[in-house]
Amino acid sequence: MVSFLLNTQMNHIQEEKADLTLLEYLRENKKLTGTKEGCASGDCGACTVVVAEISKATDYSLQYKAINSCVTFLSALHGKQLITVEHLSDGNNLHPVQQSMVEEHGSQCGFCTPGFIMSMFALYHQNSEIDREAVINGLSGNLCRCTGYRPIIDAALNVCGNKIEDKFSRVEAQTITTLKSIGRTSVDTDNLIIPTSRETLSQAIQSHPTAKMFAGSTDLALQVTQQLHTFDKLISLSLVPELTTIDTLEQGLLIGAALPFNEIEPELLKHFPDLSELLWRFAATPIRNQATLGGNVANAS
Ligand SMILES: Cc1cc2nc3c(=O)[nH]c(=O)nc-3n(C[C@H](O)[C@H](O)[C@H](O)COP(=O)(O)OP(=O)(O)OC[C@H]3O[C@@H](n4cnc5c(N)ncnc54)[C@H](O)[C@@H]3O)c2cc1C
Ligand code: FES
Ligand code: FES
Repeated sequence: MVSFLLNTQMNHIQEEKADLTLLEYLRENKKLTGTKEGCASGDCGACTVVVAEISKATDYSLQYKAINSCVTFLSALHGKQLITVEHLSDGNNLHPVQQSMVEEHGSQCGFCTPGFIMSMFALYHQNSEIDREAVINGLSGNLCRCTGYRPIIDAALNVCGNKIEDKFSRVEAQTITTLKSIGRTSVDTDNLIIPTSRETLSQAIQSHPTAKMFAGSTDLALQVTQQLHTFDKLISLSLVPELTTIDTLEQGLLIGAALPFNEIEPELLKHFPDLSELLWRFAATPIRNQATLGGNVANAS
């Protein structure tokens, strides 16, 4: 059973297609059509949503990440909170990032706007200082065809420079308690296995030799959305501790194969600062929040 919070509401999915994308789930199953489909291949950002999860570093705060729902399988939400553009306003009041976009005239046709808003919302919840470079990086996965980027960047800079507590921060402790109640539990259904140890991963691979493994799914999901391929059974690598930690050893770094690039980056740059340009050029923020080193090596990208 895959369990997650959709905004503040707990959802338990007993059985679903293993290759159901998050975008399909939102638009078709939940009728949450604020999240748009543009390219269905991780390139345009129209489908951007935010996933909040308990910070691995502190255990008492949430980390908010923008991701592309078109290249994410629903199972990636297990133990996390999903926030879409429909969830941002507080009663009749727009969220500060939405208000800032209005004030800066950051939208024309509006098709790209929900995606930009969600990337901005993730930026708004970063603990670090948000300067122009951080804004450009944070919005790097969102394309706009008609407004132009200047007012959008201004909207992000203004709102991130004048942050106030929003409705998500106000209930953060409560959200963490709820997410902890789901925990990093394993999932074993007819079409999806999420092992939580090296041993159970090994057993799953041996028992289901034809099942496809995946980590960030930024590559595998393209086979579903672009080539209309179906996967009846999938094994997720995302909750295996050995694959999702980074350790500094005397002779080097031991990097878990299922760690997303954005989680590897801080440690890697401490030792190899010149890699920053390479990482900067690798896809864009929402993809780097999911794409893993193991997947990158395995698909020879
Ligand atoms: C918009 C966009 C931009 C991109 N930009 C770049 C780029 O600039 N540079 C680049 O190199 N790539 C790029 N990619 C390709 C891809 O996202 C990356 O290669 C990414 O690192 C793949 O990792 P993943 O965890 O998402 O792989 P997944 O999609 O989860 O898996 C990909 C393949 O690897 C296998 N696999 C995954 N993890 C493991 C493992 N630990 N052991 C064995 N097999 C495994 C899976 O079975 C699958 O066959 C881009 C993709 C998109 C959609
Ligand atoms: S629809 Fe274009 S990135 Fe997802
Ligand atoms: S406002 Fe039309 S694509 Fe951005």
